[in-house]
Amino acid sequence: MTTSNLRIACVMVGLPARGKTYISQKVCRYLTWLGINTKVFNVGNYRRKLYGAQQEHSFFDPSNPIGIKQRKESANAALEDMIRWFNEDQGIVAIYDATNSTKQRRQWLHEKLTKEHVQVFFIESICQDESIILDNIREVKLSSPDYVNIDPEEAVSDFKARIDHYKDQYETVTEQNYTYIKLINVGSQVIINMIRGYLESRIVYYLMNLHTAPRKIYMSRHGESMFNLQGKIGGDSALSPRGVLYANKLPDLIKQNLGDKELIVWTSTMKRTIQTSGLLQYPKMSRKALDELDAGMCDGMTYEEIEEKYPEDYANRDDDKFNYRYKGGESYRDVVLRLEPVIMDLERQGNILIIGHQAILRCIYAYFMNYNQEDLPYIKIPLHTVIELTPKAYGCDEKRYKVDIEAVDTHRPKPNKAQTLKKKVSKQELSNGATNGNGALLGASGEIVNDIGSPILPISPQLWPSNGATK
Ligand code: ATP
Ligand code: F6P
Repeated sequence: MTTSNLRIACVMVGLPARGKTYISQKVCRYLTWLGINTKVFNVGNYRRKLYGAQQEHSFFDPSNPIGIKQRKESANAALEDMIRWFNEDQGIVAIYDATNSTKQRRQWLHEKLTKEHVQVFFIESICQDESIILDNIREVKLSSPDYVNIDPEEAVSDFKARIDHYKDQYETVTEQNYTYIKLINVGSQVIINMIRGYLESRIVYYLMNLHTAPRKIYMSRHGESMFNLQGKIGGDSALSPRGVLYANKLPDLIKQNLGDKELIVWTSTMKRTIQTSGLLQYPKMSRKALDELDAGMCDGMTYEEIEEKYPEDYANRDDDKFNYRYKGGESYRDVVLRLEPVIMDLERQGNILIIGHQAILRCIYAYFMNYNQEDLPYIKIPLHTVIELTPKAYGCDEKRYKVDIEAVDTHRPKPNKAQTLKKKVSKQELSNGATNGNGALLGASGEIVNDIGSPILPISPQLWPSNGATK
């Protein structure tokens, strides 16, 4: 078994309104950010497409034969698509989002998937707190296509009746030969069984860090630095006079938005972020992992100087900015890898302000806002602007506060593909077709700088029993 044919299906389990879709979306976002091909298959969407939305609760009654048949057909259509996706689109992790609340349903899924050499990982969410369930119904179910134009109180009571139908047949996961995690009362208790392999344990660790308490995530770059003014990248310069003005204004801006609520501040270990945090009266922590992308040999140069001195590197970066690694420095891919523990820690936090750098904040922002790797290095994170993210059920709301102090613009737009191609051809002519034989471009030192398409996490190879069953 090689790393490339490791395939995992995360099968959600739980009564309605237990956060299964929320968890599915979060896991999908996290793994996609790490470059792992992940997709959610939501059986409810198949049901609505095949048989229409707005089915009332009796559709979910376990003694309703038409409902049973149509729900099974919806489950089957989602499963078939999922298997097709694994086989045709090189899927690595699929998330099968449905209640899967009976042993019989789980056995059916387990058999079908193991036959296809897909490992099955059940993720069960149990919540006994009725007030959380009611909040969940009000927050997400009333706006679902199932309840368009329905009076909210009627919708709540119909949804509760739907939950009761599921309760009649719900069997919690006890199958000892299955791989599973049970999250009880939003993770206040966690039970795991038969977790195998690196990727499954990463998912377990990620799930253990999640919480749903309301909070704000603020992000700001440092105030304008002397290097920003001179158009130079990297370095460890101090703030410019305008950067100092920004640092002076930052505490009021945060206070106006947050009031007296608690906040912690993270900075990098670089002068410009620490200086920017200087007047903030909150607990602070500087983290090396938040230091700006290391530009290696190009550190301290302007983009124009890089283009002149290292034209090949300059063109390579434009060609694939996410994967390009500065000689002696880092790529955006490297930065995502070093930020992974920061993301885990961020998930555990309450209100937080991160004072960071352009490339670093692009990576963190991309995680929360679901940007792909190609667009990530071009996200606009201007100087003298605070970005406020408020996590919501299936994503984040965003506000930006621009402080009225001028600053240089350090954003370089994405070059047009035709131009990059032209440059790349002449660059290849120049280097006399220097490739590694597989077409991958070599850096001037002969190092392969692109490992395009491979996941960022080292996924350990996994032995799969030859009969395809776990026991
Ligand atoms: P359905 O079966 O109807 O699709 P669901 O289980 O998928 O329901 P979601 O739509 O994901 O439920 O519910 C979203 C809500 O669940 C959000 O408001 C979120 O805050 C909350 N939530 C997230 N995680 C959990 C959890 N572990 N336990 C309970 N609620 C949670
Ligand atoms: O220009 C400011 C800066 O933070 C540099 O130190 C860093 O190299 C650069 O931005 C990262 O942005 P890009 O990846 O667009 O070059």
